[in-house]
Amino acid sequence: MKPTFYVTTPIYYVNDVPHIGHAYTTVAADVLARYKRLKGFDVFFLTGSDEHGQKVEKAALTNGETPLELADRVVKRFQSLWEKLGIANTDFIRTTQERHKQGVTHIFQQLIKQGDIYLGEYEDWYCTPCETFWTETQAVDGKCPDCNRPVEKLKEESYFFKMSAYSEQLLAHIEANPDFIQPKSKRNEIVSFIKEGLRDLSVSRTSFSWGIPVPGNDRHVIYVWFDALTNYITALGYPDTTGNYSKYWPVDVHLIGKDILRFHTVYWPTFLMAAGLPLPKKVFAHGWWTVEGQKMSKSLQNVVEPNMLIDKYGVDVVRYFLMREVPFGLDGDFSHSSLINRINSDLANDLGNLLSRSTAMLVKYFDGVVQAPGELSELDQSLKNKAVEMISAVDACMEELAFSKALQAIWDVISAGNKYIDETTPWAMAKDPAQRERLGTVMYCLLEVQRLINTLIAPFMPETSTRALGFLGCQAEVATTQLSWGLLAPGTTIAKAEALFPRIDTTKEQ
Ligand code: MSP
Repeated sequence: MKPTFYVTTPIYYVNDVPHIGHAYTTVAADVLARYKRLKGFDVFFLTGSDEHGQKVEKAALTNGETPLELADRVVKRFQSLWEKLGIANTDFIRTTQERHKQGVTHIFQQLIKQGDIYLGEYEDWYCTPCETFWTETQAVDGKCPDCNRPVEKLKEESYFFKMSAYSEQLLAHIEANPDFIQPKSKRNEIVSFIKEGLRDLSVSRTSFSWGIPVPGNDRHVIYVWFDALTNYITALGYPDTTGNYSKYWPVDVHLIGKDILRFHTVYWPTFLMAAGLPLPKKVFAHGWWTVEGQKMSKSLQNVVEPNMLIDKYGVDVVRYFLMREVPFGLDGDFSHSSLINRINSDLANDLGNLLSRSTAMLVKYFDGVVQAPGELSELDQSLKNKAVEMISAVDACMEELAFSKALQAIWDVISAGNKYIDETTPWAMAKDPAQRERLGTVMYCLLEVQRLINTLIAPFMPETSTRALGFLGCQAEVATTQLSWGLLAPGTTIAKAEALFPRIDTTKEQ
């Protein structure tokens, strides 16, 4: 039986249209899922939409539609963007689906029954955009400490979850599982938050109605974060704990943005502890993108729309840029000039040029027929070693979710390939009939290294990988069995590759 791997993205709010921040997590999850599939894992990759709550209710009201109409409309935009971005998710969960509502109701009911959720009264400062309550001291100057927008005083009857009862158990879990919260720098932040003391958490609302009713008391709807976080198990069929749940839970990694770390490493694990369910193996928080140095916001009108970028530059360019430009876990900046620079330098010059140069030479010197390699010289051997080392280097990086570093390791070998051409000077060898066999070996090494490179880029740039492998006369089968040196079959006929990426003329771009 194949080992399993379960990866999730956050489920996105439907009151906003998809932007580059949403695309970032989803592409990262897709790259990881594809890599694990390549390595032979049985992967479950989940994404979806968060459709309940006051924010959605308010947005729908403003638009003169029902919350469900709004959700139905916006969810399509997310789904079509994921399709366009080549996202190969296994499932897409919407929190308005029956399967989800049933699971949430079940777990809520269980926690009421066992006394972990109780009815009380709440009075505090509430931030609607963040759907979060703050204490008097937290809401400095009447502003939300997270987003700095004004908070309002809310007093309501509320159900509470006994989060305070789980502080010690949660701290012990974090202590015993050093990889639970990543990157490491974020771990201390969460530990100090817990050590300050966890309050019981308000998990129902009466001030609006767009949500899942509290079982047995439909004046209350379930708090949107309780509802949303549970998607990670309802999508696996919970409360049915056979089938997908038993196969994939606990999740291998929840990929999220840094702003929602506390929900995933404090709220979610304590809900699970109370329900007697295993905790996620890892929660990884990535950084935030600014745009041309500024915070991305609707009011600044600088929201980067992935659709437009894909139409202009192609899907793989966008995927590559997002994964390469910023180390996963750190904040980064999206700028037009850095995007163009990546296209022209990394993609057109390095990756694309290596392929067109080498295939052109094979056509010129051997009518496009791959020769059987003879004995390897020192230079050949060194290139081969670099290629073989790249496979394990990429593997180690992917284990750490160091996507940018993995690409760097691949690009080091692309540079080595370009340098190898300059050092072996095939054009000089071609003039000397005595060097014909040697030339055949050099061409073999050059093409074989690119077969490996283009197999390894498949999770990042699936279309490019298929095209490049096609030019190399290989089946675009991306499997771990393809990841060893020497599988390019002598006798394969190869045509001159077209440019994989056209250079962007910066004099014409604005
Ligand atoms: N619905 C909740 C998540 C519930 S998960 C059980 C939510 N949705 S969201 O649509 O507002 O945000 C989803 C993700 O987008 C978050 O992980 C957030 O970090 C990410 N991003 C939003 N803006 C971003 C950037 N500018 N840069 C990078 N990621 C950003 O929160």
